[in-house]
Amino acid sequence: MTSTVFVVDFGAQYAQLIARRVREAHVYSEIVPNTITAEEVARRAPSALILSGGPKSVYETPAPSLDPAIYDLGIPILGICYGAQLMAQQLGGEVARTGAGEYGRTELTRIGASRLVDEWPTSNNVWMSHGDAIAQAPSGFVVTGRSPEAPVAVMEDATRRFYAVQFHPEVAHTERGQDLLRTFLHELAELPTTWTNTSIIEDQVDAIRAQVGDERVLCALSGGVDSAVAAALVTKAVGKQLTCVFVDTGLMRMNEGEQIETTFTRQFGVELIHVKAQDRFFDALSGVTDPERKRKIIGELFIREFEAVARELGAGGDGPRFLVQGTLYPDVIESGSGHAANIKSHHNVGGLPEDLSFDLVEPLRNLFKDEVRHVGEELGLPPEIVWRQPFPGPGLAVRIVGEVTRERAEILRNADHVVVDEIKKAGLYRELWQSFAVLPAVRTVGVMGDGRTYAYPIVIRAVTSDDAMTADWARLPYDVIESIANRLIREVDGVNRVALDVTSKPPGTIEWE
Ligand code: XMP
Repeated sequence: MTSTVFVVDFGAQYAQLIARRVREAHVYSEIVPNTITAEEVARRAPSALILSGGPKSVYETPAPSLDPAIYDLGIPILGICYGAQLMAQQLGGEVARTGAGEYGRTELTRIGASRLVDEWPTSNNVWMSHGDAIAQAPSGFVVTGRSPEAPVAVMEDATRRFYAVQFHPEVAHTERGQDLLRTFLHELAELPTTWTNTSIIEDQVDAIRAQVGDERVLCALSGGVDSAVAAALVTKAVGKQLTCVFVDTGLMRMNEGEQIETTFTRQFGVELIHVKAQDRFFDALSGVTDPERKRKIIGELFIREFEAVARELGAGGDGPRFLVQGTLYPDVIESGSGHAANIKSHHNVGGLPEDLSFDLVEPLRNLFKDEVRHVGEELGLPPEIVWRQPFPGPGLAVRIVGEVTRERAEILRNADHVVVDEIKKAGLYRELWQSFAVLPAVRTVGVMGDGRTYAYPIVIRAVTSDDAMTADWARLPYDVIESIANRLIREVDGVNRVALDVTSKPPGTIEWE
């Protein structure tokens, strides 16, 4: 890996988006805290810095700052929003509390010759979100853009290669935002395009080989994107040393197990142990209705099933020493330390006994979700796996309100298949964060043919979201809702009514339990 851009985090959610946009421009990026010292920056030698936006004002105390010695390292810097104001203030300019901020779409007017926005039309739409504004650029800078409330909306010091913009180039509403980032990275900081799917795969394959040597590796496949891509990378690196374990809990989506088995055994030729544990899961869940108890039972049983396989393979002795985890970069950042990954799902080795402790192989820990999907495609995983919507660890159980039985799981699995199938046919599957069916614990009266029915309703749940922290209920077209409803009643035994969930998050969660 030849060049890295550090995105200095000044709070809020801006830094992750900037880091993703930099990688879309094929340059590797990492998020670093704003407390990073000049010594550490010098030691780690990034090729450029981007100072992110943030929710604070430079006038607040304490306002997040930056070690000023960083400006003397000769590294190109782009300041964005708060980052731009901080640069202005630290380098001797002036930031004013104008009292008149700009929020949302704003017209940017170019002034004079620019290196950063040279190709832009004289006026252009950008996305702003600021209260304070730079009133005076520091000496050495020329002002090359302004907006109605920001007299210094773009400033540049070509000699030191310092650039700053008041607006947000990383958001899609800024018309030429990605162009601006590319200009900064490739032309002004002169960084080559080295971050590609191929380079990610090559780097990871080398790293996995170096880490595991000729030891055996174990991987739990969940049916989700992350574990599948992690397993595919390990397969490419040390396929013959890998054993995959797929525990079928009876709470998976339709054909999930078959699809995993076909992909990994037939296509990749990997050893796969398919544990058919459905009966044990349904037995353990019999009579249980409390959501937290359900989760706990499933989590613990999953670990026991996995552990049984691991022991049989000789883990802790002469069996597998390494365990693959699909930890992603956002988990690493959110865990704060940058080391201890915050493992969210129930595929958590923390629960395994000491004598079964594994060393972790985490080939996705530098990647964002969209990068994981592209790497998966490049590795030849089928689109049904790569583009699959997120699915909770406890599976259908958190979508079955009340007792989880074989019969009720079957009703929900069939209903879920109909919902997803119609959403796919309407071309909406990739746009939606999640779309699925929920089975409530009530039955209602209906009439079908000549007879009265007394059966379950199905609730359609479809949401848009970027990260599952917040979500909006999806405005599905009426004709799509209609075809889903017709098919649910016609094709799924045990269902006689369909409802639509129109709750956003907050106040609702995405799942029902
Ligand atoms: P909620 O329902 O809390 O869900 O809005 C947020 C996201 O997390 C998923 N989810 C889980 N994932 N184990 C998981 O691996 C779980 O126990 C779990 N519960 C919820 C959910 O599908 C959504 O994407």
